[in-house]
Amino acid sequence: MKSKVYIETFGCQMNVADTERAATGLRKAGYDLTPVAAGADVVLLNTCSVRERAERKVFRRINEIRSEAKRAGQHKPLIGVMGCVAQLEGETIFQDAPAVDLIIGTQATDRLPGLIERAQGGEASVIDLEERRAGEVWDISPAERRSAYVAFVPIIEGCNKFCSFCIVPYSRGREKSRSALEIVSEVSRLRSLGYKEVQLIGQNVNSYRPKTQVGLEGYSGATPFSRLLRAVAATGMERIKFTTSFPRDFHPDIVCALEEFPNLCDWIHLPVQSGSDRILKAMRRGHTADDYLRRVAVIKQSKRRLSLTSDIIVGFPGESALDFENTLKLVRGCQYDGLFIFKYSKRAGTPAASLEDAVPDAEKKARFLALEELQESLQQRVYGEYVGKKISVLAERESARSIDDMTGHSTCNKVVNFRRGQTQPGEIVDVLISEVKPYSLYGELVADRVN
Ligand code: 5AD
Ligand code: SF4
Repeated sequence: MKSKVYIETFGCQMNVADTERAATGLRKAGYDLTPVAAGADVVLLNTCSVRERAERKVFRRINEIRSEAKRAGQHKPLIGVMGCVAQLEGETIFQDAPAVDLIIGTQATDRLPGLIERAQGGEASVIDLEERRAGEVWDISPAERRSAYVAFVPIIEGCNKFCSFCIVPYSRGREKSRSALEIVSEVSRLRSLGYKEVQLIGQNVNSYRPKTQVGLEGYSGATPFSRLLRAVAATGMERIKFTTSFPRDFHPDIVCALEEFPNLCDWIHLPVQSGSDRILKAMRRGHTADDYLRRVAVIKQSKRRLSLTSDIIVGFPGESALDFENTLKLVRGCQYDGLFIFKYSKRAGTPAASLEDAVPDAEKKARFLALEELQESLQQRVYGEYVGKKISVLAERESARSIDDMTGHSTCNKVVNFRRGQTQPGEIVDVLISEVKPYSLYGELVADRVN
């Protein structure tokens, strides 16, 4: 009988994509994938370490899985830790969590079948923290994708930026771009399979720099990334989103590409992290608040109304009340469509971990709440502009609130709920917005569009 593998995914879209890649490889190697931990022979946790809380969750889950199996009178499954925690903590996980049998680094995904086989053969403490090998390619079978309508397509892995607070360059290694030819053919294939949206993903998509230009011939652009955007748009895929963009590498030509191709979606995620030059410098971001605002001005002046979202960290070491004021000021100026706010979390091994002058927890919390309140009020106004307008929504599933409603995302990446009528999941429909909710829009179906 085939062994059953269950994979649980934490963290970012890169982890989701890597889980899909792992599942593809495991199925090819003769394993069965199961959607629940109960009864699985192998449980893999694909982990995140961007903040301390995410990391602690993994250890809790390991204990839960072990005790659930015991309660059900089953053998303890083989337990493997994949992803960022695996890469960073390595061998020490075996000591901290003796229930773990396997440690699979961020670049060992394609070698999973062999590693599991070794553990099943009785080898204790199997570990692989090596780099991806030549010839290993992103291969994701549609059957393993989380959604039948929206597909994540990694274009660049890793990060070379070394922002002082961030663990990612250590957990995911240096930037490696996928070939444009591979990306474009994957998007074309997804289109022929009926996918409605692709999200080009990477820690910094606009730092995309492939080894060769193959696949980009005939597409103009000031940077390889903007050429890639045009090449991907030319596949005719209905909706193309991309995330995350890094401010220093944000070339205005990205906005030009968005103006030329309506299927490049009207949403840009451009994290600023802080509005204070002093803190931005300590964060080693390589841009000032003004540099950032110049990029924002280009986005705001576009012929298309482009939705803008950001990430901000509050309570970075040494952040004074005045620094925080500058962040509030920047946020007021940017009029973001959405903002992810994080309390600074110290990550061992990063340059910021050795900085003194920690901001007390209570102060971090107060700043978090103040920024959240500001953003909520600004967002109400930004969202209010959509009332009475018709926007295109990809219907994803029944709404959790009402069986008469469906929920989906607009091209500008807002959550939109609407009275479903005859709409089926996977359809793109036009919705007339009638109401603003705190983090979503509500509206009525205009008419089913012909897809
Ligand atoms: N503490 C808090 N937030 C962090 N982020 C990254 N590292 C940390 C950290 N040490 C946030 C940044 C990044 C987002 C994905 O996570 O805002 O853009
Ligand atoms: Fe982390 Fe900075 Fe790289 Fe983003 S750009 S992954 S915040 S180091």
